[in-house]
Amino acid sequence: MSFIKTALITGITGQDGSYLAELLVARGYQVHGIIRRASSFNTGRIDGLYSDPHSRDSRPLVLHYGDLSDGTGLRRILESTRPDEVYNLAAQSHVKVSFEAPEYTADIVALGTLRLLEALRDHQATTGHRVRFYQAGSSEMFGATNPPQSESSLFYPRSPYAVAKVAGHWFGVNYREAYDMFICNGILFNHESPRRGETFVTRKITRAVGRIKHGLQESLYLGNLDSKRDWGFAGDYVEAMWLMLQQERPDDFVVATGAAYSVQQFAEAAFAAAGLDWQKYIRIDERYYRPSEVDFLQGDASKARRVLGWSPKVDFNGLVKMMVLSDLDLAHREATLIKAGFSPPNESAM
Ligand code: NAP
Ligand code: GDD
Repeated sequence: MSFIKTALITGITGQDGSYLAELLVARGYQVHGIIRRASSFNTGRIDGLYSDPHSRDSRPLVLHYGDLSDGTGLRRILESTRPDEVYNLAAQSHVKVSFEAPEYTADIVALGTLRLLEALRDHQATTGHRVRFYQAGSSEMFGATNPPQSESSLFYPRSPYAVAKVAGHWFGVNYREAYDMFICNGILFNHESPRRGETFVTRKITRAVGRIKHGLQESLYLGNLDSKRDWGFAGDYVEAMWLMLQQERPDDFVVATGAAYSVQQFAEAAFAAAGLDWQKYIRIDERYYRPSEVDFLQGDASKARRVLGWSPKVDFNGLVKMMVLSDLDLAHREATLIKAGFSPPNESAM
């Protein structure tokens, strides 16, 4: 099998990494992904793309062990895979956790990006190959800045995670200007899917809806219900990442739907989609409050529309429905297993 291009993805086992890998493989790329060594399997989201390493055919997906804390390893992977495009999606991506592990978060999110850029700078200098680089920036970088937020809005980060993402963003801008590297910063607003990690609020809610409906859970504990987010579908957002790297010149783009809803509105819609009244099940637990909150994110993605021709295909109601249906099905399977005598997985939610 021959491939049209080669891409390297950090964070390939995450929500976005899995959708992006699918998109690139479908477009004829060979995709190399960096995975962390873990004591249990962490490749569930990309199992569909897996092919036997012993097979004689060239494989569309190849995995390499590595970590953003290990610059030498990143360098080796870059040199051995010689990608045309690099997507840096790896991160300790949970905002609340970043208050508990700020140093680790900064090491992976800020310094990890720097390590990868340094490896890429040397690779470009020795091979002459201008590799295209996507940096996964976040609307969290806007933090306390009033909506709607666009590329020209001020960064006012409100968590160690967001501060580290601002550093990653500016490393990208600086390396683009200093070394003429092709680097794009995506400033993506929240995006969700049935593959979303279960400790992010949308998935925590839709998982609970499924489990409550199937009698596996009685209530759901949440924190701040008043914050507003601009929620889109992850499958739409990875398309924007790819589009950024197909342009003639590197640039930075906000990616968002332009519509914002509160956490409470998401919960209302999700419970209603399963025929349930949210008020009967939701309780507040202050442990889920953040030391400093981001109250209102609503993106202005007009530049992405104009330059990339990108627009979201899934709206808020479509997203809620997609996630609820998937989690109703998951809970149904869970309930069937329990009835058959298997014990459910042990879960803790942040
Ligand atoms: P995610 O589901 O949490 O995935 C994070 C990925 O990073 C996982 O593959 C994880 O590996 C990997 N990772 C974590 N620490 C690592 C390390 N030390 N070295 C190498 N890999 C490491 O996140 P996501 O939602 O897909 O988001 C992708 C990127 O976009 C992240 O950088 C996130 O901060 C950013 N972002 C996300 C959103 C959003 O709404 N989803 C919005 C804006 C920006 P394991 O599977 O082994 O844990
Ligand atoms: N996680 C969580 N758990 N959040 C809760 C809960 C709860 O029990 N209760 C209320 N919330 C509120 C949070 O306080 C926050 O205001 C909002 O729900 C969204 O929280 P998350 O789903 O954890 O996402 P986030 O907005 O903090 O961060 C996500 O989006 C960023 C882009 O803006 C992550 O994906 C980041 O990696 C990403 O950069």
